[in-house]
Amino acid sequence: MKKVLILGAKGNLGTQLVKVFQNNYQVLAWDREELDFLNFEKLAKKIRAEKPEIIINAVAYNNVDACEEDIKELDLAYKLNRDLPKNLAQIAVGIKAKLVHFSTDYVFGGEVDQKFYNEKDSPSPIQSYGETKYAGEKEIARIKVKNKNLKYFLIRTSKLFGPKGESEFAKASFFDVMLNLAKTKDQLDVVNEEWSCFTYTFDLAQATKTILKKNYNSGIYHIVNDGAVSWYESVIELFKIQNIEIKVNPVGSDKFPRPAKRPMSSILQNTRFPKLRNYTEALAEYLKNKV
Ligand SMILES: NC(=O)c1ccc[n+]([C@@H]2O[C@H](COP(=O)([O-])OP(=O)(O)OC[C@H]3O[C@@H](n4cnc5c(N)ncnc54)[C@H](OP(=O)(O)O)[C@@H]3O)[C@@H](O)[C@H]2O)c1
Repeated sequence: MKKVLILGAKGNLGTQLVKVFQNNYQVLAWDREELDFLNFEKLAKKIRAEKPEIIINAVAYNNVDACEEDIKELDLAYKLNRDLPKNLAQIAVGIKAKLVHFSTDYVFGGEVDQKFYNEKDSPSPIQSYGETKYAGEKEIARIKVKNKNLKYFLIRTSKLFGPKGESEFAKASFFDVMLNLAKTKDQLDVVNEEWSCFTYTFDLAQATKTILKKNYNSGIYHIVNDGAVSWYESVIELFKIQNIEIKVNPVGSDKFPRPAKRPMSSILQNTRFPKLRNYTEALAEYLKNKV
């Protein structure tokens, strides 16, 4: 069995990656309890001792608004989103491991009239979080230029949902937040802007496994569930699936001002991998299996 190292194994995506890979791979599942991944020297030593064939990085700094408000948070975001993937790419070169790294639709948004983005489009982030993720992408690309043998998969995704990760700090997904609000409110205001695609963490983990198993080419992949929507449109679908009757009002994003700008549209187009099922089908499955 091939040895795969999953970093951030108790995060929302990491937890699903461990589940999906453990049937066919020898999985090393590392999280904060194992090691602070920002101790790059210790991390490199530990990885080199294990010599996994595949390194999957599901670690990230994801607090989009904090990056805009607090310089210390922004510094941490650069360490986790740029410096960590850079170090992992260097380690992967040294031990000849394949590297999987995840990025975001928020590397896009700066092109005012553009709604859809394919794998070849040039990033144009409009907030600091997107800048930090784009910086990580550039580091991996730079290391690949110098080391042609590096096999890497840079998977951009958006709006993850699914079961909460095992970490005590794991965040509940947007749909669970909406279901909880519906228990106490008789109507909800939801932003009818910011078009993009939802992605079921289980489907993303399965797609990641397929990319590795079928030995796809190195490079950038856009992996999202099919069906681009606004937040409002997705909430209408959610309540339809759950047969919940509640008034939902479409509002502009100016109704909920936030420190970081969000792209009006950041729909990822997938041209390199078979299309994933529609997000409504994935959402129905997630809700059915939820305990
Ligand atoms: N969430 C989304 O909607 C979304 C959208 C687009 C792209 N993505 C990308 O998808 C990937 C997975 O995101 P996610 O939502 O699953 O992330 P997540 O739930 O926040 O998980 C990140 C994991 O990294 C761990 N971690 C953070 N700093 C660490 C450190 N210094 N040492 C050790 N562990 C550390 C966290 O541990 P603790 O829990 O202990 O902090 C957590 O388990 C990321 O690359 C993200 O950028 C996510």
